[in-house]
Amino acid sequence: MNLPAHGANPAHLYEKINLAQPAQIFDFSVNTNPYGSPPSLKEKWNEWFGAVSDYPDPEGRSLTQLLARQNDVMPDQVLLGNGAAEVIQFLGQLIQGKRVVIVQPAFSEYETACRAYGCEVDFVSIDEGVESIVEVAKEAAALFICTPNNPTGLLFQSDDLLHILDQLQGSSCLVIIDEAFYDFAGSFTYATYLSNYPQLVILRSLTKMYAIAGLRIGYALASETIIKRLARFRPQWNVNALALLAAETALLDSTFVQTSRQWIQEEREQMFEFLEKTGFHFTRSSVNFYLLRDPNLSDQRPLLEFLLKKGFVLRHTYNYPTLNGRWLRAAVKTKEENDQLKEALLAWKQHN
Ligand SMILES: Cc1ncc(COP(=O)(O)O)c(C=O)c1O
Repeated sequence: MNLPAHGANPAHLYEKINLAQPAQIFDFSVNTNPYGSPPSLKEKWNEWFGAVSDYPDPEGRSLTQLLARQNDVMPDQVLLGNGAAEVIQFLGQLIQGKRVVIVQPAFSEYETACRAYGCEVDFVSIDEGVESIVEVAKEAAALFICTPNNPTGLLFQSDDLLHILDQLQGSSCLVIIDEAFYDFAGSFTYATYLSNYPQLVILRSLTKMYAIAGLRIGYALASETIIKRLARFRPQWNVNALALLAAETALLDSTFVQTSRQWIQEEREQMFEFLEKTGFHFTRSSVNFYLLRDPNLSDQRPLLEFLLKKGFVLRHTYNYPTLNGRWLRAAVKTKEENDQLKEALLAWKQHN
């Protein structure tokens, strides 16, 4: 169908669907923090301008050390990327030409990056259960698991994930756990298991919680050996100076994360109450987005288009294997925006 492969691109979506874009748009397809970036970034922004004339520290040592301290690992277990997306590219290069397994549904860049490097890509649905996942991953070079999951917002059962790690212990399969949204769900992280499982790789992004998609900063946590192998693919100065400075400031702003999480949780609960009352199906997400569907429709395209005409841009799910357009992804936004979406969804119910 050739719709945009990611959210946060309303103009492209209206064009592809051949609909006129209303003057006012509410972009529920973007899944960054609805309250924006930490105020501390805005306060320091002008002060940082001087950094643009020099090359950044190629290793981003100061930020690497901070991340190591915060995650209780050694600095040589941290690798910075120009967004988590770049780290996914490094992983694709590391396992190039080999077979990888992606637990679906999941962020589409794992497949894109792996295919770009000639990997054979197999999917396994999360609904098939842990034993099937272990079975298909046993002989693979890597297994990708996204938890909290994009697009469902659901958490992988930790007992199940630890069972997978146990079963793959001793195999040559890297277990890559993408925690891009972990800070929206609470403080639980699989990074605490890095010393138990040498083939574990944790992916993180600062894009989502700190609403700094344009700055491009993410990282991997893994054993020193894996980080060394991944670092061979890292271009010199891959992370720019402003991103390094902003990341350090953001990561030290602990109240920002707590406050954001609490506000988002309150809004999410309100939204779920509404969806339940009005007969929409939804995923009981732990993060800042969720899936919803009108149970009377198999393909949600009519609902997607109805909302687009009113200026509400939700994320289609046609390019998520196992979802195939049967759901729409919506962000949890501010109370005003969520209330407006509720009105639009009510209008849909009244007309259908
Ligand atoms: C699950 C997941 N991982 C990684 C990324 C990439 O994040 P970044 O902006 O750090 O490249 C995204 C972005 O949408 C994502 O949803």
